[in-house]
Amino acid sequence: MTEENEELNKKVTNWWNDNPFTYNPLEQKEIKPDAAFFREVDRKFIKWTPWGQRDSRPLSAVIDYESLVGQRVLDIAIGTGWSTEQFARVGADVSAIDITPKAVELAKTRFTIFGLPATDIRVADAQVLPWPDNTFDYVLAWGCLMHMPNTEQAISEIYRVLKPGGRMAGMMYNKHSLHWWWYIWLSKGILRGRLLRMTKQQLANRYTDGVYQGGNQLTKFYSSRQIRRMFGRFSQCRVSIHDTTTAIDHWPHHCLSLGRFLPAKIRQYLTTVVGQSLWIEAVK
Ligand SMILES: C[S@@+](CC[C@H](N)C(=O)[O-])C[C@H]1O[C@@H](n2cnc3c(N)ncnc32)[C@H](O)[C@@H]1O
Repeated sequence: MTEENEELNKKVTNWWNDNPFTYNPLEQKEIKPDAAFFREVDRKFIKWTPWGQRDSRPLSAVIDYESLVGQRVLDIAIGTGWSTEQFARVGADVSAIDITPKAVELAKTRFTIFGLPATDIRVADAQVLPWPDNTFDYVLAWGCLMHMPNTEQAISEIYRVLKPGGRMAGMMYNKHSLHWWWYIWLSKGILRGRLLRMTKQQLANRYTDGVYQGGNQLTKFYSSRQIRRMFGRFSQCRVSIHDTTTAIDHWPHHCLSLGRFLPAKIRQYLTTVVGQSLWIEAVK
């Protein structure tokens, strides 16, 4: 890693350690990690990803949990551990990492509170995974690869630790989304003139995760095409676009929510064209 990237990586780590991700943008820094807190995180996650739900488990429509029984699973950047909980509950042999001690502490607390099986949860950097080649059957990297200075290196590490035929899935932010082009670039950058004193990268950091805390240290947006290129070494890579209808409902502005007058089917369709989340599924 270059010196510049190392410096940025430290800033990213410190920021997430001080601002653990809870799916509640208004949350105070001082959180009380009890059962109600973790279930509220799960509830918010599910509300934010309706496209991912088949049953009450987060991402049950897109992760075949039953196929992971007894399989080696790596959960990358676990936040408060909602996904690690699901892998452990289904009986996968899961290892879980986050770059911040705070997230690891929170996920371990979750496991203690809900009496989940002893699990390997530890601090590690996805850009330098501490496992030998060909270790895992399945890797999840939800909402994290776009927050790392060296995203390509993290993808290459995922490829390395996957067994041949192993699968990975992840979520990254979609550049060609209403969120980026309309609400951030046009609305904040052009109409409010912020691009006169901020770079596009600073704008992305400021108006995505941590918006009520002054923005985070690094958020990158990618197009589906860029993602497919970055996952070029994998034998298969599928990218699909998803979102809630919130950004469409409130278009062009939350004070003038004209989008909600569009027929529900059209709003739903638009989430698959200009939604914020890219769901990536790849096979080694
Ligand atoms: C937006 S949060 C998502 C957390 C979790 N996946 C969730 O959905 O709750 C991003 C997470 O990535 C972690 N992270 C950032 N850079 C990382 C890295 N290089 N390696 C591992 N985790 C990292 C942060 O500490 C933070 O917990």
